[in-house]
Amino acid sequence: MHSSTSTSSLWRPWTPITQQAGSLRIVEARGNRVRDAEGKWYLDAISGVLNASCGHGHPRLIEAASRQFEQLVHYDPMVSSHDPAETLASRLAELLPGELNETCLLNSGSEATEAALRIALQYWRNIGEDRNRVITFEAAYHGTTYLAQQLSGLPFTASEWAPPFPIEHIALPAAPCAMRTEESADALIALFAKALETGPPAAAVMVEPLLGLGGCVVLPAGFLARLRQLCDQHGALLILDEVFCGFGRTGRMFGFDHDGITPDIVTMSKGISGGYLPLAAVTVTSSIKETFIREPIAQGLRYGHTTGGHAVASNVANAVLDVMADEKLVENSAAQGATLLEGLRKLESSPLITDVRGLGLVVAIEADSPESAADIAAAAAQAGVMTRHERGVIRIAPPLTITDDDTAEALQKISGAVDIAAAAHR
Ligand SMILES: Cc1ncc(COP(=O)(O)O)c(C=O)c1O
Repeated sequence: MHSSTSTSSLWRPWTPITQQAGSLRIVEARGNRVRDAEGKWYLDAISGVLNASCGHGHPRLIEAASRQFEQLVHYDPMVSSHDPAETLASRLAELLPGELNETCLLNSGSEATEAALRIALQYWRNIGEDRNRVITFEAAYHGTTYLAQQLSGLPFTASEWAPPFPIEHIALPAAPCAMRTEESADALIALFAKALETGPPAAAVMVEPLLGLGGCVVLPAGFLARLRQLCDQHGALLILDEVFCGFGRTGRMFGFDHDGITPDIVTMSKGISGGYLPLAAVTVTSSIKETFIREPIAQGLRYGHTTGGHAVASNVANAVLDVMADEKLVENSAAQGATLLEGLRKLESSPLITDVRGLGLVVAIEADSPESAADIAAAAAQAGVMTRHERGVIRIAPPLTITDDDTAEALQKISGAVDIAAAAHR
């Protein structure tokens, strides 16, 4: 029997229960498009859950999954390893800069955050230093496990439980639209410097290269390079969360590549498997892993999951790397993203739009209110473009396989949606 609040027994995450009845149902996806139960096709301008970076139904990814399903679905990662996970770990070591050579495979971005924090905190114990303070952005989003959610100061992630270690949240010194100047970089760095200088020594600073769920905030150029220097000065580990930005989303393979830095720990998920199967990774430097080989914690990492590094998911991830290289998807992300940003910037003349910002294939349109954003997103969906909006910001992040024609269509339909919403608000 169905409950009184809904006609469905499915409890969807992060969605008010009162809004779940009669909502959109997606039944099919091909290339850069998805179809709803009524038969209507949409240009998928949100890449599934920001993870369908190679588009939907890609034959090479389906083939990689089918082949691995037949060969070996998965095996106990505590008893043995298998080729797909071994290959993926060594390919990540080749792809990532510097000493980032040691990878632990998991299922979700939140688990990657959880593992990264445990590794960082254990690292300090391993070398005999008592550090446990973690510094993050207030507008950060690092996931939804108990630890990961505590790192975020966003209103929707607020929890009633106390964090198990001190967490310091850095608020943006200016509105997102004012965060692209050299002065804003100075102001932001000054806040991180103060947090690192004040209080007990920090164990780690954990940031996203672009604040994704915090409003698609593009951070000032050079900020990460200066943050790297600060962390070095204070001996704190720098953890980069590449769950949202990694694998080409921002027009470079990783978000931190824009600043040419090497973090100490990197978390990855979403695009790693193109969204075909759940997969995440944490990669750390060889010198961090080295401290886990010594006594008394020689048992290594006391963290892991039954399906972590699932063989089929790992095989798909290896195929994703091939597809990305063969189809030049990072280059396409940079090129299509630049066209999209330039075209959508024209919307800044609309009375409803307060800012348009972006990096690679993450473009955000900030509206003057959450209601305007909802109206624009609804008009875009009506015209056949799927976007997502949160707290007044409409996010456009299509698959990296988007074509010139798709980009032109997105520009035309989203601009039309803004006009329709503006006319209704007059
Ligand atoms: C930057 C970032 N980190 C972590 C996560 C959590 O990933 P997951 O939803 O797979 O747990 C997300 C999810 O959106 C994210 O954007």
